Amino acid sequence: MERVNVEQEAGVASMLKKLSVLWKSRAAVNQEPLDYSSLTFDPSKQDFCVSLLPFRDHPAWLDAPEELKSRCLSYAWGIYNLKTIYIECNVVTPACEDIIKTPPISNNRVLLQDVMSEALLDEALHTRMSMLACNYIYDMRGIPPLDFADFNLVQWRNNVLSTCNAEWERRLTRFAIACASETLITDYLKTLAEDSSIQRVCHEVTKTHAMDEWSHSSVFSFVATDIVQGLSSNEREYLRSVILQTVQMFANNELGAWATVFSMVNFPRARDILHDTGDSNEINVYTDSVESLIDRVGLARSGQIHSLVASAHIKHEGKGVRI
Ligand SMILES: [Fe+2]
Ligand SMILES: [Fe+2]
Repeated sequence: MERVNVEQEAGVASMLKKLSVLWKSRAAVNQEPLDYSSLTFDPSKQDFCVSLLPFRDHPAWLDAPEELKSRCLSYAWGIYNLKTIYIECNVVTPACEDIIKTPPISNNRVLLQDVMSEALLDEALHTRMSMLACNYIYDMRGIPPLDFADFNLVQWRNNVLSTCNAEWERRLTRFAIACASETLITDYLKTLAEDSSIQRVCHEVTKTHAMDEWSHSSVFSFVATDIVQGLSSNEREYLRSVILQTVQMFANNELGAWATVFSMVNFPRARDILHDTGDSNEINVYTDSVESLIDRVGLARSGQIHSLVASAHIKHEGKGVRI
């Protein structure tokens, strides 16, 4: 397919260049690292926001002793960061690597590689920040670390990839889930980044990460805009459907991780909480963000949303792998 919109391609180039200049001065990776020793640990402060817990209004949670709830909030910080680490390593990094190793056919090829390599450096730092901040809290609270690997977002991504019939689908899937995640992670980080009443280190780490992710959301949007121009209509439909489906999994409450935590702390009536809590939390916030992403990158279409991964698999025509 010929690229028809030269003006748009030039517009993307101009924005990516600006974002790259900003990265050099603003990205956390280009600043002094956070000095944990300057952030006093306050044992009376919570390590996580209660308002983010999907079971915050459940009677079994409300009735539990404060000390136990406080321990769960420390583990909520652990779950939150472990999920962040999996998003960085298993979702975003592979998509950055795809574009760096085999960039799309585009006049912006070098720029696309450039901004993706910057994002890759950022994500490596975010992974390190999350790991250090988790271990800091486990250490200060004197509690054993949480080991958990079965995040639903990651499992779902693996399942979608395993049902792909061609490499172009796998590549588009990796990019779609990363692109949606890079938009949604800002919403994911927002509450903690803005809550200065929680443990100082938790607030600072999340705020630093959120500032980088504001830029990533733009970077991925412009990269997606460039990529979309080179896609066939079925490839666009496929990209759109996977981006929309990512919302459900991003907003997932990850109750498997909570089941592990409740068992570690012997939480009373944990089974009731797990049974009564739904799979998704704050889904509307995430849906609004991703719909705006779809508009921004040129994937909006009139009419009803009907595309699903399964139907896209059947209809695919894409020999022309462009991303
Ligand atoms: Fe990140
Ligand atoms: Fe990111």
